[in-house]
Amino acid sequence: MLKKKQLADSASDDFAADVLASLRADPPSISSKWLYDTQGSALFEQITRVEDYYLTRTEAAIFDEAFPALADMFGPGMAITEFGSGASIKTRRLLTALEPQLYVPIDVAEEFLQDAAEELHALFPKLEIIPLVADLTAPYELPEAFTRKNRRLGFFPGSTIGNFPEEVAVQFLRGARAAMGDKAHLLISADLVKDKDVLERAYDDSEGVTRQFTLNLLTRMNRELSADFDISQFRHVSRFNTEKSRIEIFVESLAAQTVSIAGEAFTFEKGDRIQTEYSYKYTQESFAQLLSQSGWEVEQVWTDPNDWFGVFLASA
Ligand code: SAH
Ligand code: AVI
Repeated sequence: MLKKKQLADSASDDFAADVLASLRADPPSISSKWLYDTQGSALFEQITRVEDYYLTRTEAAIFDEAFPALADMFGPGMAITEFGSGASIKTRRLLTALEPQLYVPIDVAEEFLQDAAEELHALFPKLEIIPLVADLTAPYELPEAFTRKNRRLGFFPGSTIGNFPEEVAVQFLRGARAAMGDKAHLLISADLVKDKDVLERAYDDSEGVTRQFTLNLLTRMNRELSADFDISQFRHVSRFNTEKSRIEIFVESLAAQTVSIAGEAFTFEKGDRIQTEYSYKYTQESFAQLLSQSGWEVEQVWTDPNDWFGVFLASA
């Protein structure tokens, strides 16, 4: 059964107002949540299949081991909510293994969320699905059908939590704890610190898909904010900041130029940058610490043989 999608208050956040405010700031930035229009969400799905982007296949191999263990632990019939569900591709395997009664996918990408929910409904016709459009970094409530269930699991795969700065990650984790209630469990992935070259290749892949993903933000602004970016005059730049343990991604201007966005003029010198994304890399210890300071106690951790990626099961 596919229920009508619900919209949290944060779902109506204004793209124009948010972009203009963060571009006027020094240094200029744009929140990474705006990367995911329909084209951006599809490009991210393409990134997950790129050879240099080791994250998705490493996580999938860990899930091979973790999902049967979780099925033994929880049994069928529980309620699952997924944070930043995107195309819900990984979810199909989780739903097959755990056989839940209810699934609540949450994402800011409204159209993509609806399409993914319809595809899942066709595959799992008996599963109750309630899609929720919400910004995970702002307050939201889970549907009552979820909170009244005795057994509740939050699923946050892909290491998307790494895209939140630490204070936002803590705020998200505390918010999820409050929204999911006592005795809930959380299955959450984090990408782990590793060789700098491996990290930098993953965020500037040789097939150029990550570059397209970043620059699509300019295309989106041209279309939705009547901006006039000449995309060929900007490039994607990414680097690993060892001290802050994060990949930093920027759009860099290749020339001195002025761009109009929603009627406002922005001037760029050659080399000026707009920060568009962070992707934090944790150690097992630092991620467990993040969870525990946010009201979640780690019960089990699964990693791959190289210790490149971690999947954490925590309880509220
Ligand atoms: N879970 C999938 C998709 C990850 S891509 C996977 O692991 O492959 C990240 C997803 O998080 C996108 O679908 C994006 O729209 C969503 N997202 C990013 N920031 C968000 C935010 N602040 N609130 C809600 N969803 C967000
Ligand atoms: C969704 N998230 C976990 C991705 C990441 O690895 O930080 C987003 C991404 N950006 C560029 N490549 C992938």
